[in-house]
Amino acid sequence: MTISSGPHSGPTGAGPFTPDGCSVELYARLPWADDVGVVAEAAGGPASVLELGCGAGRVTHALLSAGHRVVGVDQSAEMLRHVRGARTVLGTIEELRLGERFEVVLLMSYLLSMAEKPLRARLLATCREHLADDGVLLLQWFTPEWFDTVTPREQADERLRISLHSIVRDTPGRVHAVCEYTLDAQVWQQPFTVVRIERAELRAELAAAGLRWREGFAGDRNWVLADPVTG
Ligand SMILES: C[S@@+](CC[C@H](N)C(=O)[O-])C[C@H]1O[C@@H](n2cnc3c(N)ncnc32)[C@H](O)[C@@H]1O
Repeated sequence: MTISSGPHSGPTGAGPFTPDGCSVELYARLPWADDVGVVAEAAGGPASVLELGCGAGRVTHALLSAGHRVVGVDQSAEMLRHVRGARTVLGTIEELRLGERFEVVLLMSYLLSMAEKPLRARLLATCREHLADDGVLLLQWFTPEWFDTVTPREQADERLRISLHSIVRDTPGRVHAVCEYTLDAQVWQQPFTVVRIERAELRAELAAAGLRWREGFAGDRNWVLADPVTG
């Protein structure tokens, strides 16, 4: 995926790195995701899940242990080598055409917010293409409010500290920042750029892909649920 270029230099820390600047070693060592309850909540129970941009399986492994069946897709063979217990597919999300449909399609890690509009259309087309008629798309995005209010922040436990810093707003509708991970005293810096998407814009982009924003989801506001438009 081509992401918008920003003022920061490339990632630092132990590599290898994916094209979008993620350290394989870091993602392989990060703890499992603890926010996968949203999948069961959206699907109403264990489901077949297509996880787009699964990386080293931080979310995949949590989904599998919660009883979901998962196919993980990533453009990095080094990342996929760490995934256990799920079928994996090496390739880009935008080009993916498996000829299969899933009860849940997951587009996490703010990948939509990192893409410019033409690429977003391709990512959403892939999501729609792989969604069962009664399936649901779950995606994470940065809300417009996040762009107005984001400031440096940090969260930490005994092993892991994650901090967001070096926030730059040099272009309207763009935020460049660095996410710094300190895991067992080893440090990685991952610069990234995200693109502001207004709600009406996202609603229209979903509709253009044959998807309808599911209103009223009570969970974290960084999640969007969308249903396929059928017929
Ligand atoms: C920030 S990592 C997150 C991995 C995993 N979702 C997690 O939360 O641990 C993003 C992953 O998405 C993959 N990725 C980004 N853009 C992609 C694309 N267009 N097609 C396939 N994989 C992509 C990267 O290779 C990387 O492994």
